Amino acid sequence: MKRSVKAISLMLVVMFLAVMVAACGNSSSSKVSVGIVLPTKDEPRWVQDEQRFKDALKGSKYTTEILFSQGSSAKEKENVDALIAKGIKVLIICPQDGDAAAAAVESAKKAGIQVISYDRLITKTDAVNYYVTFDSIAVGKAQAQYLVDKAKPGQPLYLYAGAASDNNAFLFFEGAWQVLQPKIANGTFKIANSSEAAALKGTAKLTREQMSKIIGQVTTNWDANEAKNKAQTHLTAAAADMKGDVAILAPNDGTARSIADVFASDKAVTKFLVTGQDAEKASIQYVIDGKQSMTVFKDVRTLVKDAMGMAVAILDGKTPETTGSYNNGKIDVKAKQTNVIVVDKANVKSALVDSAYYQASDFKGL
Ligand code: BGC
Repeated sequence: MKRSVKAISLMLVVMFLAVMVAACGNSSSSKVSVGIVLPTKDEPRWVQDEQRFKDALKGSKYTTEILFSQGSSAKEKENVDALIAKGIKVLIICPQDGDAAAAAVESAKKAGIQVISYDRLITKTDAVNYYVTFDSIAVGKAQAQYLVDKAKPGQPLYLYAGAASDNNAFLFFEGAWQVLQPKIANGTFKIANSSEAAALKGTAKLTREQMSKIIGQVTTNWDANEAKNKAQTHLTAAAADMKGDVAILAPNDGTARSIADVFASDKAVTKFLVTGQDAEKASIQYVIDGKQSMTVFKDVRTLVKDAMGMAVAILDGKTPETTGSYNNGKIDVKAKQTNVIVVDKANVKSALVDSAYYQASDFKGL
């Protein structure tokens, strides 16, 4: 009799401990509800997103953690696994490489986590639930329209693109090509640095393969150094009739500044127009100083608000609002899209300072 009482109390103690352990497990696993993974700290664009997330999350009841992948898909997978282990319910992720990120989000899906692709689409997987993005086709169109509006007949045109591992690079180029192609076909522009683009000048709508060929020749890989080296190589190879007053399609601000510096240092280039995007502070200064012609302002505050809005809807058991969808090569991903604003010297103050995105004191000579 005594023995069985002992056994029962021992069992109770074991059961109590088991419950305690489970409870502790639970409380530690609910530590972080939303995990955020961004591609790299090496580009101001993503450091800006981190800051905008932090601003938006001040005083929020939801716990979040932001990790950076530093340009590595392996690090990105580690980050996602670490967040899964912390019990996140929603993952907001901007992939370093759209295809390679599939493995990371598939692990998240297996753990019952809802995935929001942020700014860049994760491709060739069904493990993406939502996509928040800017209108990337419109970004490319706006860059090209800027060049077209100021074009001189027979003007040399230099093309540059983003990284082929980023689906956005294709969307930007697709948008730009829609606007540039008729002007290339009618001789307004002559392409200076891509034989593939020149060979396709009669083709209004490019296939992904055709775009890949052009991007393969003129990619910057989103790297300012690579952009600089390519621009130098192109100018060294360019004949005299490909210099003078030129137009340059640069895909974003980081690459635009280094391409602009190279073109500015070539004496045979008398004048140039160069595009950009992101409204990075350094590029806004370039625009004010007349060193970069324009940028496309993508208000990251809106993107962050939309991404967090979706995450909170999911946490509250509601269905997030979407405005359309994007095919990622496997499924149609429901998406919420935000418009972009063209900024040049004429509206830099009203678009960026009056909207409280930046402060006037961030710039000289505004
Ligand atoms: C983003 C751009 C950014 C680029 C390089 C793109 O996916 O949309 O804003 O400049 O990546 O990081």
